[in-house]
Amino acid sequence: MRAFAAPRTVRDYVLYGERRLRAARVGFGHGTDNARDEAAWLVAGALGIAPQALAAHLARRPDRGAAARIRALLAARIRTRQPLAYLLHEAWFAGRAYYIDPRAIVPRSLIGEFLAPGAPSPLADPEISTVLDLCTGSGALAIAAAYAFPAARVDAVDLSADALAVAARNVRRHGLAARVNLIQSDLFTALAGRRYDLILSNPPYVPRADMAALPREYRAEPALALVAGDDGLALALPILRTAPHHLTADGRLVLELGATRAALESRFPDQAFLWLSTVGDESVGYWHRDDLLAWAQQTRR
Ligand SMILES: C[S@@+](CC[C@H](N)C(=O)[O-])C[C@H]1O[C@@H](n2cnc3c(N)ncnc32)[C@H](O)[C@@H]1O
Repeated sequence: MRAFAAPRTVRDYVLYGERRLRAARVGFGHGTDNARDEAAWLVAGALGIAPQALAAHLARRPDRGAAARIRALLAARIRTRQPLAYLLHEAWFAGRAYYIDPRAIVPRSLIGEFLAPGAPSPLADPEISTVLDLCTGSGALAIAAAYAFPAARVDAVDLSADALAVAARNVRRHGLAARVNLIQSDLFTALAGRRYDLILSNPPYVPRADMAALPREYRAEPALALVAGDDGLALALPILRTAPHHLTADGRLVLELGATRAALESRFPDQAFLWLSTVGDESVGYWHRDDLLAWAQQTRR
């Protein structure tokens, strides 16, 4: 096994990067979940190619400038603990590239699995003509929805003007300004009278006390994007209660809750919620408008 004192090929640099990231115990979860994939993405970023294209370049020898960029990126990733997406100003989501910087959370919603090109999706429905992405952050979910539902108009809402500035850049990058409408709003407040066939939401859902246990990379992201009160439900509950008033008669809500799914289920033990299967997880809830109205009525008492 080579010691990588002097990595030469792209393949060497990926293995070298993997070893350094692992030794430094950096945190993952912002586009990759392991050191090998993160190193491959980093090397691809330094070479200016898409991570999916890296395999064709493994035997190549990076020139001096590219080698210096790889080393500088690795050093910055380890020293600053910034997610790699922030250092590259690029995130990959549902098969497409997005601009990103620390004004918005790195897009990684599990809902993306249902919007990726060619993915068999429980959300596929040619009748969908209006979509809301509530808590849009970088706009990636809204844009992925615009691609998945090519005839739909998409409203993308966030409270944060900073996040919306990032989203605006992404809407321009994808040439979707005619169909993706950015709105600054505290949840549904600015949406009076608007109804949607589909509401997607990946809201903040981390209980305040859990923030301290997350890897440093998460603290590089806006706290507004993560923290949701003491139990993680501070936004989810108002969304569940208000969504039916903004859904069309056959409309659906898709809400990601992560580990906070357990808090919702223990708070409403008599309710049978429907959780969609995603890779390695079942923490994305799915509600028809009628389910939400029934739930609201039953739980008001
Ligand atoms: C977990 S991030 C999700 C961002 C994006 N949907 C994604 O999946 O990458 C949650 C987003 O909710 C926004 N947010 C927080 N509180 C909000 C509120 N009361 N109304 C609207 N958006 C809010 C944050 O600014 C942040 O962009």
